[in-house]
Amino acid sequence: MIPALPPLDWAAVLTVLPEPGYVVLPDFIPASLVTALRHELREQEVSGRFHAAGIGRGAAQQIQRQIRGDRIAWLEASWPAAAAYLQLLDDLRQQLNRELFLGIAEYEAHYACYEPGNGYGRHIDRHVSMAGSGQGQRVISTVCYLNEPGWPADAGGELVLYPEGATPLSVTPEAGTLVVFRSDSMAHEVLPANQQRLSIAGWMRTRD
Ligand code: OGA
Ligand code: MN
Repeated sequence: MIPALPPLDWAAVLTVLPEPGYVVLPDFIPASLVTALRHELREQEVSGRFHAAGIGRGAAQQIQRQIRGDRIAWLEASWPAAAAYLQLLDDLRQQLNRELFLGIAEYEAHYACYEPGNGYGRHIDRHVSMAGSGQGQRVISTVCYLNEPGWPADAGGELVLYPEGATPLSVTPEAGTLVVFRSDSMAHEVLPANQQRLSIAGWMRTRD
């Protein structure tokens, strides 16, 4: 069963997504889907689908544990929970296209698992090396959290957004929260947590 998009305050989303460039949507993913996604992540992990994440693309891809410490598995539409999630995000993609004329053609996403002590240093999601690569451009970044409900206040693992010319914002990786931000300009980082941290990171992009 594919859940419907939760009612969104579109006027608010459209006001803030261009500038300062982000919107945080608590409880965007229904609790039952979060649970199904968490279980599917674990299954895929046991099946050996996860690998250390790299930085950049293609030949420029490097694995540098100090900078980026997650392990990932790209979502496949043949996985049931992933399919429901991809459908939901596709609805969001279409609405954003209609309202903001972003010309986003595709969405790609991966499960991510950060072990305690691992984070992801400050970065921007649009890779320079992707220009002209036939991969399109990342326009909108999304992160959805799959942790057990009630992430402890002292566990760390916040996503910190650094909008240009505005105050940084710390987001707790609470189950079901979806964070949406601009891929081209929003610097951000993942602080290390003292417990395992589960998420889906994804990107809406143009086609070349
Ligand atoms: C990423 C990323 C943020 C998060 O995967 O590029 O910035 O909160 N993730 O997991
Ligand atoms: Mn990122």
